[in-house]
Amino acid sequence: MTGAADVSVKKILVPVDGSPVSSKAAQYAVHIAKVEGAKLVIMHVVENVKQGGAIGLQARYGNVRLVEGFRRARIKSAERWMSDIVDDAAKQNVSAKAEILPDDGTHEVGVITEYAKKNNVDLIVMGSRGQSTFKKLLVGSVTNAVINHSPCPVLVVR
Ligand SMILES: Nc1ncnc2c1ncn2[C@@H]1O[C@H](COP(=O)(O)OP(=O)(O)OP(=O)(O)O)[C@@H](O)[C@H]1O
Ligand SMILES: [Mg+2]
Repeated sequence: MTGAADVSVKKILVPVDGSPVSSKAAQYAVHIAKVEGAKLVIMHVVENVKQGGAIGLQARYGNVRLVEGFRRARIKSAERWMSDIVDDAAKQNVSAKAEILPDDGTHEVGVITEYAKKNNVDLIVMGSRGQSTFKKLLVGSVTNAVINHSPCPVLVVR
């Protein structure tokens, strides 16, 4: 190997979906941040309502209040489990901030990778799987696509 890579891990992005695997990924991120003196950004992307589902049907027929209520409930619950992670980091003297972002039409993957590009993220730490109960793939679709499009290294936690 010629020359040393300029390795600096100062900002770590941790995309979370409330699943046990993503909480485990967050624990790894806190550990690495402590060792490296890095800051954490805990991020949840609020997915757009799926076309096919029951709520999606309501969205199609213009039931704005129901869809908005559903979104707000999702944000509220995300705030709860994200603040657990931020508190946990604080207990270990690691600075962490929580970001809840809407899907701007680029899917969770676009939001995560664009954020990483624009904010000079050095490392992404995420779970191999998430909330889905459909276990066909070895890694979930969000993780698979982030690995393909990330500007920085990705640590996948199982
Ligand atoms: N909405 C989201 N916002 C932020 N991070 C997410 C989001 N969804 C998933 N992730 C991250 O991606 C990891 C893997 O989840 P992913 O969604 O890829 O798998 P899955 O839910 O098992 O399968 P599926 O492809 O069916 O969604 C999670 O552990 C979490 O770190
Ligand atoms: Mg998922």
